[in-house]
Amino acid sequence: MVKRIIYIILALLVIIQLFRIDKTNPPVDASQDFVQLTSPPTEIAQLLKSVCYDCHSHETVYPWYTNVAPVSWWIKDHIDHGRKHLNFSVWGTYEPKKADHKLEECYEMVEAKDMPLNSYTWVHGNARLTDAQREQLVTWFKGLR
Ligand code: HEC
Repeated sequence: MVKRIIYIILALLVIIQLFRIDKTNPPVDASQDFVQLTSPPTEIAQLLKSVCYDCHSHETVYPWYTNVAPVSWWIKDHIDHGRKHLNFSVWGTYEPKKADHKLEECYEMVEAKDMPLNSYTWVHGNARLTDAQREQLVTWFKGLR
């Protein structure tokens, strides 16, 4: 019985691998990109790109485990949601009021350690922000308002 259940689970794991996520990044118009438009110091630009852009831009980098269902579905969901709420690749298209509000959210979320998501920093060691880096990002976001 136990053996049978294990076989069924294994078979299901194999079958779900057929349902792959779409990893095509939508085209990037550099003239609308947050980093292009705000030209932060290199350090901030690198932080944003390595810590936020995977979920909040059209420049997502997909590591190997994004090939493995069901983890891949879960990650894709984060990316879709992340982009919907805040997309640095289309920053230039935001109305001033919306952009201002997003900036406020950015420093609030980074300050409160809500962003980047914990589940992301577990696997992306290099996205774990030090207190100093958090401070730097918060100061930068605040300065833009
Ligand atoms: C692993 C993916 C991921 C990473 C990395 C990430 N975010 Fe998010 N972010 C999300 C998701 C998903 C949401 C949608 C809200 C929710 O469900 O929690 C969100 C929401 C937000 C919001 C709220 C926008 C709104 O108006 O509702 C802000 C602001 C934000 N993120 C900023 C950042 C910043 C700044 C970084 C980098 C320091 C970052 N995020 C890194 C996934 C991510």
